[in-house]
Amino acid sequence: MKKNKTIFITGTSSGIGRETALKLAKKGYKVFAGVRRKADKIQIENLNDNITGVYIDVTSLSSIDKAFWFVCKNTENIDVLINNAGIAVASPVECIDITKLKEQFDVNTFGAVSVVQKFMPLLSNAKIINISSMAAYGLFPYVGAYCASKRALDILFNSFALENKSNIKVISVKPACIKTPIWNKSVERAKEAYEAFNQTCKDKYTKELLFMEQNALKNTTNSIDVIKVVNTIEKIIESKNPKPSYNVGFTAYLAEFASKLPLKFVNNLIKYKLKKI
Ligand SMILES: NC(=O)c1ccc[n+]([C@@H]2O[C@H](COP(=O)([O-])OP(=O)(O)OC[C@H]3O[C@@H](n4cnc5c(N)ncnc54)[C@H](OP(=O)(O)O)[C@@H]3O)[C@@H](O)[C@H]2O)c1
Repeated sequence: MKKNKTIFITGTSSGIGRETALKLAKKGYKVFAGVRRKADKIQIENLNDNITGVYIDVTSLSSIDKAFWFVCKNTENIDVLINNAGIAVASPVECIDITKLKEQFDVNTFGAVSVVQKFMPLLSNAKIINISSMAAYGLFPYVGAYCASKRALDILFNSFALENKSNIKVISVKPACIKTPIWNKSVERAKEAYEAFNQTCKDKYTKELLFMEQNALKNTTNSIDVIKVVNTIEKIIESKNPKPSYNVGFTAYLAEFASKLPLKFVNNLIKYKLKKI
């Protein structure tokens, strides 16, 4: 009988991670679902018998180590590792608190690298699916930290794909705006960041940050349904020869297209739009 695939996903308490864990478990895959809280472990395990919750904070090497040994006790290999855990920090580059900038990279970029480094013994023939973002195309103001963390993720893992001597395939998934709790969370983070600004920054950017907040709140309801990302992930898992990168949603294709145009032209267009805020 064909063995069911084993999947490990980080960040399954909500959003893309949670829905992916559920869909794959329903298909019969054995899913190790990364969470940080007991309540989330109970909640995700209650969704389906094929899901096993695993405590993992991707910014903590000791947490990653514990997660690794837990998974090792329960399986000999992982077929698909999905680096999904992520946060979004919004702030103008001029004002961003360096601690928040580092936190952005700690979760979205260094976290994924740390997980892969630790889990390598289980990944010899695996697919690594990184949930990147259309932000990786790098054209979005006021979320430079987020864009940079995702671009850095893609660059590091492209090097990894070229270097690795086993049969690991690396795939970057670049969704447009998806209806998940990340937007409300990012508004909370942006408010916190704003409170820490000095008065000059507050005076300069209040209007723009309010605009960003309204947009983020709209995205909680107006954006693409999470199932589109889940379906793409499923397609990648089932493909013998997946592409290195997948856009999800029209805006992601648009961002890719715009990123290939002369930067001066694109920046002038964005600056013109920003003047209208
Ligand atoms: N929604 C979008 O529009 C969109 C678009 C493009 C890409 N993405 C990417 O998709 C991924 C999933 O985001 P989402 O939209 O589904 O948002 P979400 O619902 O907020 O999910 C984020 C997940 O990451 C987890 N997480 C955060 N920090 C962590 C850490 N230090 N260690 C382990 N887990 C951590 C969260 O767990 P806790 O509950 O424990 O914090 C949560 O389960 C992210 O990488 C995001 O950048 C989202």
